[in-house]
Amino acid sequence: MNILILGSGGREHSIAWAVMQNPKCDKLIVAPGNAGIAQIAECATLDIEDGGAVAGFCDTNAIDFVIVGPEAPLAAGVGDRLRDAGILVFGPSKAAAELEASKRFTKAICDAAGAPTAAYAHFTEADAARDHIRKHGAPIVVKADGLAAGKGVIVAETEDQALAAIDDMFAGEFGAAGAEVVIEEFMRGEEASFFVLCDGETALPIGTAQDHKRVGEGDTGPNTGGMGAYSPAPVLTDAIAEKALDRIIRPTLAEMSRRGTPYQGVLYAGLMIENGEPRLVEYNVRFGDPECQVLMMRLGAQALDLMQAAAEGRLGEARVNWADDHAMTVVMAAKGYPGAYEKGSLIKGLEDCAEDSFHMVFHAGTAQKDGQIVAAGGRVLNVTARGASLMQARDRAYAMVDRIDWPEGFCRRDIGWRAL
Ligand code: AMP
Ligand code: GLY
Repeated sequence: MNILILGSGGREHSIAWAVMQNPKCDKLIVAPGNAGIAQIAECATLDIEDGGAVAGFCDTNAIDFVIVGPEAPLAAGVGDRLRDAGILVFGPSKAAAELEASKRFTKAICDAAGAPTAAYAHFTEADAARDHIRKHGAPIVVKADGLAAGKGVIVAETEDQALAAIDDMFAGEFGAAGAEVVIEEFMRGEEASFFVLCDGETALPIGTAQDHKRVGEGDTGPNTGGMGAYSPAPVLTDAIAEKALDRIIRPTLAEMSRRGTPYQGVLYAGLMIENGEPRLVEYNVRFGDPECQVLMMRLGAQALDLMQAAAEGRLGEARVNWADDHAMTVVMAAKGYPGAYEKGSLIKGLEDCAEDSFHMVFHAGTAQKDGQIVAAGGRVLNVTARGASLMQARDRAYAMVDRIDWPEGFCRRDIGWRAL
């Protein structure tokens, strides 16, 4: 099977790493990829949000299966374009990708499906939004409706913060994504992520994870794309996962099918858990980054079989072979991230890190320069390990971090603290 993965981050490196271990994979191309991915697969330059260009590339390169990493190509309809061309794709249609692309859409689906989530109201006028905030008071959550690269959510602790968020959104701070605003009840509890493969009808859970969104130790400082993650998430017990499937995921899939837009791909449900009861925070229509890295580390080669079964509508007969293991990934970022940071610093010591089914350094933002690896982004490396316990996975991951010689980088030393 000739496979194309779309994307360029640590998420796509980990998917490529898992796919490469499966003997079914004859050829793997990743577009655009990065310097780490280039060590295990062919990388190609391609505008991955241009469905026509991707379809043409698949034709030229005899691609049998496309795995879409990030949300942007899905929201742009690349999946539909490929399916029209008869190419097997892992990832939802543009219509089904609305579950991530529009918060208002997701809320409407939850209403129709009876899925527990925060109470909400939807506004296109700043005055009405302000009145709503004054009526309900803080804490309260203000969200830009559309895709805002993870930045369009303000969890306001005071009424003034919420009102300021309304001013910013209607002043265009988040571009078109902020022209519509969703205001939500603040939910208390512990957050965890639940990953479920879907083939339009069947839901197959493939793991749970928790990430650390704040840049600083003790979960302090500004929000980031994620500074580390671990799997499984102890707070998401089997009993709670079963409730989430019964009350949130399966009713969502049924409602999507009823509307004629069945969901196929991975559904990433962000859950808030309080007193053993899960409620939906948000859906994403792709794997989390860096959550994907710990899931792939645990699933290994079977990830390809499972994604293929989802794309072919065969999840009803698919099974996940679980090992009783744990994985952790520690993000190494360029100093300054999530603010301004420099690119181009040299990363040494990578060759001293073991690469096997228990240890992998996935590259998130790297480039090759004169035969060496240099930093080329904010989040740069995902140092990932697997073990019999979370403690063992952590010790292995930080032992690798200590071998990496990169003075211009930093990481959090406390990934997993909540679970440990
Ligand atoms: P979202 O992009 O919708 O996942 O929101 C980003 C983050 O904001 C979430 O991961 C939560 O930590 C937080 N958040 C979003 N909505 C709520 C809510 N209704 N109550 C509490 N926290 C929330
Ligand atoms: N790590 C959070 C996300 O991928 O959305």
